[in-house]
Amino acid sequence: MTADTLLTHFNQVFCPKDLGHPLAGGEMDQAEIVEDGYIAIKDGKILEIGQGEPRSELIGEKTIISEYRGKVATPGLIDCHTHLVYGGSREHEFAQKLDGVSYLDILAQGGGILSTVRATREASFDTLYQKSKHLLDYMLAHGVTTVEAKSGYGLDWETEKRQLEVANQLHKDHPIDLVSTFMAAHAIPTEYKGRSTEYLDVIIDEMLPKVKEENLAEFCDIFCEQGVFTADESRYLLSKAKELGFKLRIHADEIKSLGGVSVATELGAVSAEHLMVISDEDIDRMSQAQVIGNLLPATTFSLMEDTYAPARKMLDKGMAITLSTDSNPGSCPTANIQFVMQLGCFIMRLKPVEVLNAVTINAAYSVDRQKSIGSFDTGKEADIAIFDAPNIDFLFYFFATNLIHQVYKSGKQVV
Ligand code: NIG
Ligand code: FE
Repeated sequence: MTADTLLTHFNQVFCPKDLGHPLAGGEMDQAEIVEDGYIAIKDGKILEIGQGEPRSELIGEKTIISEYRGKVATPGLIDCHTHLVYGGSREHEFAQKLDGVSYLDILAQGGGILSTVRATREASFDTLYQKSKHLLDYMLAHGVTTVEAKSGYGLDWETEKRQLEVANQLHKDHPIDLVSTFMAAHAIPTEYKGRSTEYLDVIIDEMLPKVKEENLAEFCDIFCEQGVFTADESRYLLSKAKELGFKLRIHADEIKSLGGVSVATELGAVSAEHLMVISDEDIDRMSQAQVIGNLLPATTFSLMEDTYAPARKMLDKGMAITLSTDSNPGSCPTANIQFVMQLGCFIMRLKPVEVLNAVTINAAYSVDRQKSIGSFDTGKEADIAIFDAPNIDFLFYFFATNLIHQVYKSGKQVV
């Protein structure tokens, strides 16, 4: 069979192994790195990966061949935890943060997430669409081809729905593919202050069935945190969501440890996210239950804390991990997944191969897209990040600079 497109002579092609489950523990340090590699593409899908000169059978009259000497290719990066769609911004909280006011104190004073809720409620579909598109453009320019996007800045049906509709429209319009998560349980809206259970019942009785009916999101998420939702409340909401057929994720152990990890393992959540202050017992629980730990080091950085999730310990104890930006207007205003990957090495002491597996194959599992993306196996989408780097170590060594040379989405050059 001839290829439509042949990308040849990469210094290295990074090929994650899709073993049929998220890579865990020592598996995360394994990958095939093809030197002087080529990528053959047919109908927007990966046809084959090979070394040296492509087999002559791959080359037809119409095959387009381009050379990539001095470059490195990886599967398109997957940012599997973002709060993409929101109104306004929160640079006014930056000064407070520098003065040492904590994230949870700002929230308790009606700022933080609640300040973005006010701005998002006021924003039209168009405003939200343009703002989110702008963020996606940045992400794409950094090599990201799939993004998970949560609602959670409406906290009322009308606005939550608008956020999800923006994400779904962008999924159709933008080269990046989006995976939607419903997260009305992101904070307790001011109008329900002190009545969190009542608010959860509104989510369960009125919002969740409509999200399902209108097919607006596949995942359901909740912020299990001091001053937000307790572990029991998280269990209550997520078990109802599970009954309705949602896949589950949970914000757990970000600032205080309240038992969110047990909720994730009991209910079979796909992933538990943040885990900055996770206990050793909970790490064991996660590896036994095979719940993916989604780590967000740029959030720790931006919160100016030193409690980075214990990634090395997690791998030693056999957990599967991913890394993502958490892109949001408060705790992590960035769209640069390469910076997150570098924090993975510089601060969490992960190895380049572990980080690259985290943001490709494991991130694909975390958004339930492992059948179509996350590796270069034949038949998967030809989503490719091409870096101006002679080898994969360089992606981490030469830091804080966007090293993207080109990006392909489903076989088409989009950057
Ligand atoms: O993952 N923790 C909750 N949600 C976001 C922060 C959202 C915000 O501050 O606006 C997070 O850190
Ligand atoms: Fe988050």
